[in-house]
Amino acid sequence: MAGVLLGVTGGIAAYKACTLVRLLVRAGHDVYPIITAGAERFVAAETFFALARTTQSGDPYPHLQRADLLVVAPLTANTLARLAHGLADDLLTEAALAHSGPVLVAPAMNSRMWMHPATQANVRVLLSRGVELVGPVEGELAEGEEGIGRMAEPEEILTRVEAILVAGTRTPGSLSGLRVVVSAGGTREPLDAVRYLGNRSSGRMGVALVEEAQRRGADVTLLAANLTVPAPLGITVVETPTAEDLEREALACADADVIVMAAAVADYRLPSPSASKRPKDGAPWVIELAPTTDVLRALGAARRPGQVLVGFAADGADSGLERAREKRRAKRADLFVFNDISRPDIGFDAPDNEVVLISEDGEREVGKAPKSVIAAAILDEAERVLSKR
Ligand SMILES: Cc1cc2nc3c(=O)[nH]c(=O)nc-3n(C[C@H](O)[C@H](O)[C@H](O)COP(=O)(O)O)c2cc1C
Repeated sequence: MAGVLLGVTGGIAAYKACTLVRLLVRAGHDVYPIITAGAERFVAAETFFALARTTQSGDPYPHLQRADLLVVAPLTANTLARLAHGLADDLLTEAALAHSGPVLVAPAMNSRMWMHPATQANVRVLLSRGVELVGPVEGELAEGEEGIGRMAEPEEILTRVEAILVAGTRTPGSLSGLRVVVSAGGTREPLDAVRYLGNRSSGRMGVALVEEAQRRGADVTLLAANLTVPAPLGITVVETPTAEDLEREALACADADVIVMAAAVADYRLPSPSASKRPKDGAPWVIELAPTTDVLRALGAARRPGQVLVGFAADGADSGLERAREKRRAKRADLFVFNDISRPDIGFDAPDNEVVLISEDGEREVGKAPKSVIAAAILDEAERVLSKR
């Protein structure tokens, strides 16, 4: 149970903050709402106090209230700018300046406001101070437009709140000073100028690993293979759309302290795809695929002492686990993350995962949980291996 200061600012998504209060209260947290005048145009402050089962404080210094976590959801472009510049012109921004613990913000605004260089510069300022972002996500926006800018769903915000509170019990900056490389997404192998062979990997697992490594203070590089989710801000992103690109870029960072190969890399490719589109002529199209280089094996062969190498095995439940154990040994990886892709509720393109972490010292099952929780378990294990070096 934790004390959570919940700032709500003036966007349409303020109504969703009501659900967030309920979820936080149900999870056993003490919530103290701070509602801006802008937010009160959408939902009365009393609604939040009633849902939080508290009343507006008669304290002359309500902004000095101590809490384990400050959450601002939704966060408007206006308050984002005020937080970035350290203004203290209302109760929420005063409380933010007086708060010394972790801060999680859930921006919500029109895509053009989000993409504006001023907003992006303000976001970078907040990230550089260790503020965590959840969302915004793509989808339908209040004014009828489509794009990035929707507030993350209250359930996702709650998951992040829990992850931050758990992380608070860990040593802060446990990966600081270390370089972590994560590959994420799924490669696409061209068949001709427009067609490709791909897979269903969204990149969510890899992105969750990047966020967790960033939270632990690492200098993170993301090798991004056709992500369907936005890459986190404040890290180095290298686009690696094909297996060949991924191989080249992964080997270029082979001296990193921790390498996590979470991307689904094609095992086969067409050696010489046509530079133009193959016309449809009704005849069968016979192609011969050639195996791609096994990037993890290449990294294992080139590994330097002290480095931690993590591989993923997406396989069926039957003998997949045994195959993953064998692959870990053969590819000289320290850790293998096995997940059963025969289940539709976990793994590929799903928000949750359930894995077995295989290392030299044994195996650890991590039950079904959001990918952020799985990412934390994987990095805990990687840190354990690092500490033995
Ligand atoms: C109908 C309406 C919807 C709005 N929705 C948003 C929004 O989603 N995101 C945002 O950044 N600003 C939005 N605004 C603008 C903010 O309400 C405005 O910038 C206000 O000053 C924010 O104050 P606050 O950040 O102190 O709450 C909206 C304004 C109106 C009139």
